[in-house]
Amino acid sequence: MHRRRHLLFLLLDILYLAVAVRIDATATPAEGELSVDYYKKSCPNLQNVVQQTVTDKQIKTSSTGAGVLRLIFHDCFATGCDASILISSNSFNKAERDADINLSLPGDAFDVVVRAKMALETECPGIVSCADILALAARDLIIMLGGPYFNVQLGRKDSLSSHASDVVGKIPMPTMSIEELITLFKNKGFTAQEMVALTGAHTVGFSHCKEFADRVFSNESDPSLNPRMKLGLRKACHDYKNRTTVAAFNDIMTPNKFDNLYYQNLPRGLGLLSSDVALLTHPQTRPFVLLYAANQTAFFRDFVLAMEKLSLVDVKKGNRGEVRRRCDEFNELNTSN
Ligand code: HEM
Repeated sequence: MHRRRHLLFLLLDILYLAVAVRIDATATPAEGELSVDYYKKSCPNLQNVVQQTVTDKQIKTSSTGAGVLRLIFHDCFATGCDASILISSNSFNKAERDADINLSLPGDAFDVVVRAKMALETECPGIVSCADILALAARDLIIMLGGPYFNVQLGRKDSLSSHASDVVGKIPMPTMSIEELITLFKNKGFTAQEMVALTGAHTVGFSHCKEFADRVFSNESDPSLNPRMKLGLRKACHDYKNRTTVAAFNDIMTPNKFDNLYYQNLPRGLGLLSSDVALLTHPQTRPFVLLYAANQTAFFRDFVLAMEKLSLVDVKKGNRGEVRRRCDEFNELNTSN
């Protein structure tokens, strides 16, 4: 009897230990693991600081939200979500942000991350990576624009290098065929459906005239371009080669609202970029365009899943990265950065 009770206590002890280890493992993530609570102890006010900073910025400059959304996409697709896009070039190195395709990223998108970083360096110095700030800022701005909420896993490290040459061929262009676009997204682990869901980001923001000039100034009849829209864009862009800053809304119907009008525009001839229009014509992508046009809930559900996946592409952990003191500079400068 005595021995059986002893055994029972021993078993309970083992069970308790197992539960305690498990609870401990979820409370403080091991080094290298990502978690939504990664900074719970080291920077408890993180989410409030980021939210406050992006709210102030977006209210003052309403183009920030779309800019940050494109910024994180370009960061993640080039060399992973590691804030390598935020590094400034110097005399030794042309950094990612100066790659041709990134030159149209708006300064305000970089600025909001820098501001959040400055606020966090007062709150909890040297703790929060710029890559994590970018991911949180993108999420908060999507919500401000009317889009869906999603959890952001945290614990990314910032890159130790940034080269413009690493961007070449990694970022989609409107001149690419759907086959080329599908392959480019597939190389990063995304399906054609996820590509269509992510490209719903074109529900906000602008494109400069040179990105769609071919369609607008072509004299051939184009059933995929509404004649009134064509005329309007011709007017707006008539001098685009000299006035290079002129741009048009990606979603002409609700340009500042994160909704599914981007998809609804496509069958009406109101799509802007030829890659947007192509999503509707190709059999591998068309069903998803029609689904999201008819059902905003389905779009939000799939966009959230795809965004969570995007923000985890090739994340740097442990000593593959660092927590930068400034988002535009490595902590230690060396000629190979
Ligand atoms: C099919 C692939 C895609 C192509 C070909 C493409 C191409 C482009 C181009 C050419 C622009 C205009 C840039 C300018 O003139 O300033 C643009 C804007 C934009 N793109 Fe994409 N993109 C694609 C997918 C995505 C994805 C997956 C996202 C985000 C998840 C995204 C987010 C944005 C946003 C938010 C803007 C507006 C930026 C602003 O207003 O500053 N795009 N895109």
